[in-house]
Amino acid sequence: MKKYVRLFLIPAFAWICGIGLTLIPGGCDRAGTSPKTTGIDTDRPGQTGTHIVPTDEVQMTPDAAMSDPASTPELSVPPEPTESPAPIPTKPTIPVNTDTSTVTYLVNRDYPLPEDFVPEGLTTPDVLFPFSDTTIDKAKMTPEAGEALALLFDAAYEEAGLTLYGVSAYRSYARQYTIYATNLAVYGIPHTNRYSAAPGRSEHQTGLSIDISCASEGFALEDTFADTPEGIWVAENAHRFGFIMRYPKDKEDITGYNYEPWHIRYVGTELADSLHTTGLTLEEYYGVSSSLSAEYLDTTPFIDTTAESYLAIYRQYH
Ligand code: DAL
Ligand code: ZN
Repeated sequence: MKKYVRLFLIPAFAWICGIGLTLIPGGCDRAGTSPKTTGIDTDRPGQTGTHIVPTDEVQMTPDAAMSDPASTPELSVPPEPTESPAPIPTKPTIPVNTDTSTVTYLVNRDYPLPEDFVPEGLTTPDVLFPFSDTTIDKAKMTPEAGEALALLFDAAYEEAGLTLYGVSAYRSYARQYTIYATNLAVYGIPHTNRYSAAPGRSEHQTGLSIDISCASEGFALEDTFADTPEGIWVAENAHRFGFIMRYPKDKEDITGYNYEPWHIRYVGTELADSLHTTGLTLEEYYGVSSSLSAEYLDTTPFIDTTAESYLAIYRQYH
């Protein structure tokens, strides 16, 4: 009799437990015991027969996840679409290049050259000058800049029938001193500082810059050059040959110099192209400016006009 009782009670007990387990929420889905992980769900890639997937590898199918939100709530609620904030524009910061072995380095009031700096290989480019002795310093440039200048002048002639002239290219530190001091004597402090760099502060010392003009301007360096066919063509095409208009109109506060449509600077075609497209000056490209501070615009008239007084004034800016 006990045997019959056992025969009846054991299956009954097992049957009751089975129902109980299915009523416990999640009871059939415990990782490692769930049929889903024991080979019943054999359609999942990489799982065959009765292979038991280790707990941390269990991946529910999307259907399973949706039908059992309690087990994986994070999968059951589709994420709210969130609007990503607009990116804050940041100014690219390119460190100022002062490496004189490159062609893109900056020279201005704040980034001077040493007194003894002389560019390597200065040579006279194969272009026209309005003076006959082309062995003098002001007819010279670095070989790379000089070759680019010849290509620029040739293209002006071939593409537009325009003849350009080189007027003033390389200047030594000493030569720039003489020019600057003379300008101080003739034009006074504010005017001089708007157009003329103190020695060491002039791009002409790099051998990468040149002042250019044309016959109709009498080879002079005047604003009116900008309105000549030659000046217009240069402004539109110089970048193709690696030159930039170094002191553009309306950028005086940034370059620190008045508009000089005649002064071009070689920086290579890559940077020249980029600056032509963006309209940036070399100062803006490097994130600096070289504005004229009050001392450079001092209008106190000269009392003493001896060479010594010019030297004293020059030293203020040096
Ligand atoms: N005219 C330019 C600024 C110079 O003197 O270098
Ligand atoms: Zn110049």
